Amino acid sequence: MAIPDEDVARVRAATDIVALIGEHAALRQQGRRWVGLCPFHAEKSPSFSVNAQEGLYYCFGCQVSGDAISFVKATEHLDFADAVRFLADRAGVTIHEDASGGADRRRRTELLDAMERAVTWYHERLLSGPDAGPARNYLRSRGYDAEVVRKFRLGWAPDEWDALAKGLELSERVLTDTGLGFVNRRGRRQDSFRSRIVFPICDPSGRPVAFGGRILPTPPGAPPLDRPEPKYKNSQETPIYSKRRTLYALNWAKHEVVASGEVIVCEGYTDVIGCFQAGLGRAVATCGTALAEEHFTLLRNFAKRIVLAYDADNAGQSATSRVYEWERRHEVDVAVADLPAGSDPGELARTDPEALRVAIAGARPFLQFRVDRVMAAAELGSAEGRARAADAALSAVAEHPDELVRDQYVMQIADRCRLEAALVRDRLEKARRSPPKPSGERPGARRGTARESEGEARRMDDGDPGPIPPDDEGPGQPRPERPRDPSTRPGLEALRLAVHRPEEVADRLEGVLFEDPVQRAAFEVLSEAESLHEAIEESPGDVADLLRRLAVEEPVTDEDTIGDPFDAVVYQLVRVATHHAMGELQVATRASGTGLAEATAEVAQVRHWLDELDDPDASRAASDRLVAWLVVRGSAE
Ligand code: UTP
Ligand code: MN
Repeated sequence: MAIPDEDVARVRAATDIVALIGEHAALRQQGRRWVGLCPFHAEKSPSFSVNAQEGLYYCFGCQVSGDAISFVKATEHLDFADAVRFLADRAGVTIHEDASGGADRRRRTELLDAMERAVTWYHERLLSGPDAGPARNYLRSRGYDAEVVRKFRLGWAPDEWDALAKGLELSERVLTDTGLGFVNRRGRRQDSFRSRIVFPICDPSGRPVAFGGRILPTPPGAPPLDRPEPKYKNSQETPIYSKRRTLYALNWAKHEVVASGEVIVCEGYTDVIGCFQAGLGRAVATCGTALAEEHFTLLRNFAKRIVLAYDADNAGQSATSRVYEWERRHEVDVAVADLPAGSDPGELARTDPEALRVAIAGARPFLQFRVDRVMAAAELGSAEGRARAADAALSAVAEHPDELVRDQYVMQIADRCRLEAALVRDRLEKARRSPPKPSGERPGARRGTARESEGEARRMDDGDPGPIPPDDEGPGQPRPERPRDPSTRPGLEALRLAVHRPEEVADRLEGVLFEDPVQRAAFEVLSEAESLHEAIEESPGDVADLLRRLAVEEPVTDEDTIGDPFDAVVYQLVRVATHHAMGELQVATRASGTGLAEATAEVAQVRHWLDELDDPDASRAASDRLVAWLVVRGSAE
């Protein structure tokens, strides 16, 4: 789905990158750049820098870099084309997509139509199919009346190989692309959901995009199945369905979510339905997958408060320390509801709906919840028990990225464990420096039931990057981290000048002056490209990264120095490159054993020019000669 390059360029040009990034991070102007806390990693002192003119950003802390389009890709979780469309909408730019874009949309419509028809078909089957009696009975036994069945459009997938595929006359392509079925080894169409109650999963506007299917419980006394089926089976990912970006029931919950500013996130479809029945119409569920950042991106448009209502035995471990990071990044508060042991919201809604409402209303911040859990399990009656409790609680607190938050828990723990706050604080800093224990109290060790057939773990910590690094304790200024290796330094400064003041240095520099291959490549692409953007686009990853970083770095060279401030940079580069080249020349001469006299004369000449570099009257000419010499030598190699 190609968007013409000119349109991409127009969208870039029309985008105010400072305003765009400013929605995610507070930026303040500093010289030509804008700086702030990096929206991509936790930090206390700003290392994130934006060059408004070039429309580029770079973080000296975590090295992310890019332009407006890559920023939107990362923050909105869009692919390139969608990110361009997003920015085009924002800037009021019309883009001219070619015909294949239309074809893609037609295809999506075709799949969505098939899903809609499947929902109706399964639903009818549940309401009136003679084979759906046991399913109707089961739902009734769970307290689902006709109204619930209708509202959630529940269905019955019969125990037949291809009832849906035949009933709807789905083509092989639509059958497989929707995930409603597949073509089996004998080349026959087959349904994915058989002998299951199906829960339609919709996008936020209510269009069905997937199903979750539950088996009926085996009647008491019946022999166990020889091949036990997973309790739930969920649609695979398709062009219209991404698990990480979908929340079950958001289409039904969104009005109450927006009105109340709160969303309840459950683990299961039946938990959501239970919440609705208990009068909590602002509940959604992840679809057989862990809570992911994409879910936050979706939710933050709807509500500022997210209440996790997980199965009681899971709740403490079901979210990751990344939740804190997501809270900050998406400006939401995450709280956890404490359900009575052994229950889940679906069950509690049936047995004690008031208790469910109380648990939701009393949801506490995630970290408070974890600390309380530790304290509840601790032996606070003995000195040793209190010390152990303090340590256990601190290992949870250590994961929080905000020092102000951490410190309040320090005081709380000190209080509850009868310890000196200073001592607890000290202990916390130690805990933050040492790596966290492997597993153990980490999430993910869920009870060992068989999960989805695709074998997807429902660990709530998939992709966890591990411990949060300690905050930078540096001063509040961005500290562009110049590389440690001093030999690349003059090259970097020369490149900074080539980016920011090309008119001053461009014709005094040559590729051979850069010893570092990445720097050399960066210089070469810069001198050939029409613009910095073009240079970046044409460069391989490491070179492009370097260029984006240079774009936000101010040259160190001060324009106000007496004399030509750029001389020093150029001369230094020339000096280093010359010494290297001379060394190589001598080695080569010795190795070949010939041309000794010429080489000696050449070296003497070069030495003389090097001396002249220190003479203000001769330095310019000497530098030019040395550069010429280096170029000739470079091309002779
Ligand atoms: P639970 O095991 O808690 O089921 O799984 P539940 O929601 O309480 O269901 P009922 O009330 O017994 O009918 C919660 C969610 O985990 C996913 C499903 O999305 C389910 O809704 N899951 C569970 C699977 O994907 N596969 C499974 O085999 C089990
Ligand atoms: Mn459950």
